[in-house]
Amino acid sequence: MSNLKNKDFPKDFLWGASTSAYQVEGASLEYGKGPSVQDVKVIPEGTADFKVASDQYHHYKEDIALMAEMGFKTYRFSIAWSRIIPKGVGEVNPQGIEYYNNVINECLKYNIEPLVTMYHFDLPAALDENGGWSNPDTAEAFVYFAKVMYENYGDRVKYWLTINEQNVMILMGNIIGTLNVKGIDNVQKALYQQNHYMMLAQAKAMILCHEMLPGAKIGPAPNISAVYPNSNKPEDIAAANTLSAIRNWMYLDMAVYGVYNARVWSILETMDATPEINEGDMEILKSAKPDFIAFNYYSTGTAEYYPVEEATAEGKVDQQTAFSLPGVFRGVKNPNLPKTEFGWEIDPIGFRNTLNEVYSRYHLPIIITENGLGAYDKLEEDGTIKDDYRIKYLQDHIEQMQLAINDGVDMMGYCPWSAVDLISTHEGFDKRYGFIYVNRGNFDLKDLKRIPKKSFYWYKKVIASNGKDLTNN
Ligand code: BG6
Repeated sequence: MSNLKNKDFPKDFLWGASTSAYQVEGASLEYGKGPSVQDVKVIPEGTADFKVASDQYHHYKEDIALMAEMGFKTYRFSIAWSRIIPKGVGEVNPQGIEYYNNVINECLKYNIEPLVTMYHFDLPAALDENGGWSNPDTAEAFVYFAKVMYENYGDRVKYWLTINEQNVMILMGNIIGTLNVKGIDNVQKALYQQNHYMMLAQAKAMILCHEMLPGAKIGPAPNISAVYPNSNKPEDIAAANTLSAIRNWMYLDMAVYGVYNARVWSILETMDATPEINEGDMEILKSAKPDFIAFNYYSTGTAEYYPVEEATAEGKVDQQTAFSLPGVFRGVKNPNLPKTEFGWEIDPIGFRNTLNEVYSRYHLPIIITENGLGAYDKLEEDGTIKDDYRIKYLQDHIEQMQLAINDGVDMMGYCPWSAVDLISTHEGFDKRYGFIYVNRGNFDLKDLKRIPKKSFYWYKKVIASNGKDLTNN
């Protein structure tokens, strides 16, 4: 029944799109920027490195003007920690401060609300060399970085996101180039210790934000996917619930309520992977309160019970592939869902399910900070990019988001991935997501010209109609 009667999108709904610094900016070691883990990692064969990316550092005015033409109400971008503080702690780079001042001011010129991610996969390499997130000093360095950002940009930035996809960094750090467990025997224990320090860093940054910037709002930004059981067998349902707790709820239960998810904690105990918790940590975690939940959604997961005796080595997994834990669950493919050219399942109805599940657990306003389709776009001879497949993907997801609003979910905004073409975490420049085409290949930088795709004009119409007109014509 609820499918028949749609509520409108709220009138101040934040339509926009997202990028992250290391994937879009380029100038990776220029203008005083220090290296991040993304600049020193081994780049997967056949894909671009991050030196030039989409060269937004030199094109930000043009990019933001195009976003304004689409009618963006917000632009979600990240601030590169090592551009502001090249070594992660200590000296601040004035050129870095100036660059983001310019980006923020350029957004505000067009009434585009800056939505700033503080940390998107790009830990300063200097901190990584000192143990990265295994070292509690990294959490303090993050809080210092947060303070520098609040001092410099807090007069203009009202919306802050703490850490992008902390869950993906813990669960899939090897794929996205953030894993640091060098010389460690009990890898799982080390990872959950890192997770604990990141949680503390996030909590302290939220508390500081509320102290320093009373009018600002701040929230976490994990990657959340509802997890389906592969059958109605109770053991498969238990498996799906457990995977969901490990992948999703642990991160949000901690960010919102300041508690460890009990189901996950008990699994960590059986794996000898519980983190050390210092006196006072839980009080800090409990006293930090996000104002909203941001999350990235690409697809759902599916899981079933995984008998120990069937355990085998895992094949290739990435941030949208469900992983496995013998004796508990294994991720499986969902034959009911179509896939992108890169093998990611497409599940718009799962988006509505996920929104409802998140809202009913946490009762906070939600902003989607990523959702989108990676594809091999083609620049036609006539200079157009006909990305009807992307339009279809976004149409279907926006439709389901509206149904979620109708279900009662408090939605504050929608920022698909990505505003501009950029470099994928591990699949190069040819896996494009943007509304704006950037004319370069993996190795041939060409002219980096910006060209609006068909989806650009479509999204402009969606925003102008506040989500009422989703037609593609
Ligand atoms: C999310 C990340 O996991 O997915 C982005 O926050 C990333 O940084 C996006 O680009 C799409 O993934 P990929 O691997 O196709 O770049």
